[in-house]
Amino acid sequence: MTGPAQPSSAPLPLSLVAEGPLTGTTGVPGDKSISHRSLMLGALAVGETVIDGLLEGEDVLATAAAMRAMGADITRRDSRWHVHGVGVGGLLQPQVALDMGNSGTSTRLLMGLVASHPITATFIGDASLSRRPMGRVIDPLALMGARFAASPGGRLPLTMTGLCPAVPLTYTLPVASAQVKSAVLLAGLNTPGETTVIEPVATRDHSERMLAGFGAVLRIEGTAQGRAITLTGEAELRPQAITVPGDPSSAAFPMVAALVVPGSAVTITNVGINPTRAGLIGVLQAMGADIAVVNERSVGGEPVADLVVRHSPLTSIEVPPDVVPSMVDEFPVLFVAAAFANGRTVMRGLDELRVKESDRIAVMARGLAACDVTVEELPDGLIVSGSGGEAVGGGATIATELDHRIAMSFAVLGLHARQPVTIDDARPIATSFPGFVAMLQGLGAR
Ligand code: S3P
Repeated sequence: MTGPAQPSSAPLPLSLVAEGPLTGTTGVPGDKSISHRSLMLGALAVGETVIDGLLEGEDVLATAAAMRAMGADITRRDSRWHVHGVGVGGLLQPQVALDMGNSGTSTRLLMGLVASHPITATFIGDASLSRRPMGRVIDPLALMGARFAASPGGRLPLTMTGLCPAVPLTYTLPVASAQVKSAVLLAGLNTPGETTVIEPVATRDHSERMLAGFGAVLRIEGTAQGRAITLTGEAELRPQAITVPGDPSSAAFPMVAALVVPGSAVTITNVGINPTRAGLIGVLQAMGADIAVVNERSVGGEPVADLVVRHSPLTSIEVPPDVVPSMVDEFPVLFVAAAFANGRTVMRGLDELRVKESDRIAVMARGLAACDVTVEELPDGLIVSGSGGEAVGGGATIATELDHRIAMSFAVLGLHARQPVTIDDARPIATSFPGFVAMLQGLGAR
């Protein structure tokens, strides 16, 4: 096995309470999306890429292990990560199955890399990942010439063989997915000619920013069909020094915690505010949240700021579906914020949430109802009737279904509940936010 060790210990129940306001200053770990990409592109550059602030979560460690299995030299020294790449076209045949753990991003982006290299790789993952659809990347990569033997429904475990040279492609995304976009672009790196992805709806653009930073030739145009990204293949990537900003998807948890626990005032430093990721801030502000975005700056080609968040009465809104791609991972914790708002918060257009690490609409609806929050589940969303700022009932044990963001969302809900909220198993939190519990304890939770 080349991936992270599967947790063999028993489930780790967790329950957090706040007996007073949350106060203080905290950082959050490095951005998960940017961390994956920095390892992958570093592994395809010739020379040494140095990464500062890499997220050392299990998902990213799975990517590191897989890139090592395909020939890259990746080490951690003096709190930095050093990557010696093999060059575009130089990935080696892995000798063992690539264990992707819980990580959809690792799986889909690495499938893109393998697709245009003359190698065969087998991808395996945990129970959650083995339920998630891979057809969305298999389809375009098969058009480029890769061959697949997947489990029923296009799922893991799957074995694929890349084609070299692969066939360049122009592909319009059928779902708004940065993972699918990135898989095709990464396949395009070792493909002759131009590979184009057209996205009708803009999704996170970290791949484009980082590919350009590594010296790939990339063209972005607005077209009638949407945003068209064209990559010139057989690229030569130059190694980089990368500083990974704090993850806005992780910052979402202390942000909502500070908003809902009475009297709180929390500063979260060094948070990525790339517009393709920062939708939650605007939605919470529209609900009345007191969030100041200060000290804006640029770190490694990404916009970053500090966030000053104060406890606020929240008012329900109807969340416009067009913001969904810019906060797709933040809906579980937005549902929690909505549980404390005054009135009914309506959130629709969330079909993609049903195929994340869990069915996040169903799992959140069940857990919120168990905590005495009134919810109405829709095929593509959720309506949450909030408490108007009062503590919610709580008193339930939540089945988190191997989903880190479900676990952290209910930990935040429990901070302002009449009865404790227990997470059945806190171990999955380490996939994206090692140190989550210590971070909340540092702000005053117990
Ligand atoms: C990610 C893209 C998103 C997001 C995931 C990370 C990425 O998935 O949910 O956590 O790094 O590209 P989709 O692009 O499939 O929506």
